[in-house]
Amino acid sequence: TLVEKQVFKHFMLKEIHEQPGVVRDCLNAYIHDDWQVPETSKTSKSATVNKSLSPINLNLPNALCEGVEQVQILACGTSWHASLVGKYLLEQLADLPTTVQYASEARYSPIPLRPNTMTIGVTQSGETADTLAALAMEQQRRINAGAAFAPRLLGITNRPESSLGQMVPHLIDTRAGIEIGVAATKTFLAQLIAFYLLALDLAWRRQTISVSRLEEIIKGLRQIPSQIELILSSHEQDIGELSHDFSDTQDFIFLGRGINFPIALEGALKLKEISYIHAEGYPAGEMKHGPIALLDDKVPVVAIAMPGMVYEKVISNAQEAKARDARLIGVTPKTSGESAEIFDDLLSVPEVDELLSPILTVIPLQLLAYHIAARRGLDVDQPRNLAKSVTVE
Ligand code: G6P
Repeated sequence: TLVEKQVFKHFMLKEIHEQPGVVRDCLNAYIHDDWQVPETSKTSKSATVNKSLSPINLNLPNALCEGVEQVQILACGTSWHASLVGKYLLEQLADLPTTVQYASEARYSPIPLRPNTMTIGVTQSGETADTLAALAMEQQRRINAGAAFAPRLLGITNRPESSLGQMVPHLIDTRAGIEIGVAATKTFLAQLIAFYLLALDLAWRRQTISVSRLEEIIKGLRQIPSQIELILSSHEQDIGELSHDFSDTQDFIFLGRGINFPIALEGALKLKEISYIHAEGYPAGEMKHGPIALLDDKVPVVAIAMPGMVYEKVISNAQEAKARDARLIGVTPKTSGESAEIFDDLLSVPEVDELLSPILTVIPLQLLAYHIAARRGLDVDQPRNLAKSVTVE
């Protein structure tokens, strides 16, 4: 099919703008819209949920989910970042110990073999050689180990017709469709949504979440598309203007903590992929153990500071960067008041439940990378040396 850029200068920008629709479509497909909390469980003391009425409809069979004791995730690149958010969700919501490995590493250092392990392959293209090979190896290793270790393979992709789709018995189709820009944007966001849904589904089945928390998260998810629209409409111009200031910048640091640490990694990856600026993502609390030595007035620092458990800590880490003359850019709600005054520039996002915040905080970072690269006149959709799907190992 003919895919056009329409009014957008690049496919990447078009795909960034498709994200509200992608999320909306995914939520409509996989959350029962008529889901009502059964009155009995609402009032029950345990506040756990009635298994028969799961709000999430991913069509995953019991054989895949029942009795799972741990999860192992295999992925590369941006999909690996989505998987790190997935790990946070699976552990915090569904109480499932989760490992995330680069597929290219897992092949040579597979995790210790344990029974009842769900193995998830995450790939936007469905064709990444390392991911497919790591999954095949894991499948064989588990078959060889006997029935107790039987493989429970699940794929997460926007390309159900891909090699991944042929290989695994169960898939979550993230419904993001084909992505043209080499730097992943909408497919990443769709993978995040898939992980929220999977973690909620497993949390429901395992009764590790209360009805009220589940309702709260679902309600929050339903507001995400319009919140992304708000970020897109409010920032298109100011991020475009901000990008002027970085025409000579050679290094960037991105800081995040907790569930937003993977977003710091992703913000840095987007920037280096398309602008060729060296960028590092770091857990904010680790900055003092290395990257702080790089800081001066020539190295801008982007800090993701969303209200929640780690907010104050991130602000104080950001302060340390500011004390080394770094220009400080905050991804934070406008409402954060006084503490936001430390930032030289704000990429504001709506205030949301901390658990949902990665879905929003990545958006201004995509725009920042895009505008910096576009301003430098670079080939945003086809960056040098990179390919949309990497079929060499
Ligand atoms: C390539 C792409 C990246 C992508 C990575 C993994 O390097 O340029 O955008 O994140 O492969 O791809 P996958 O298709 O497995 O998600």
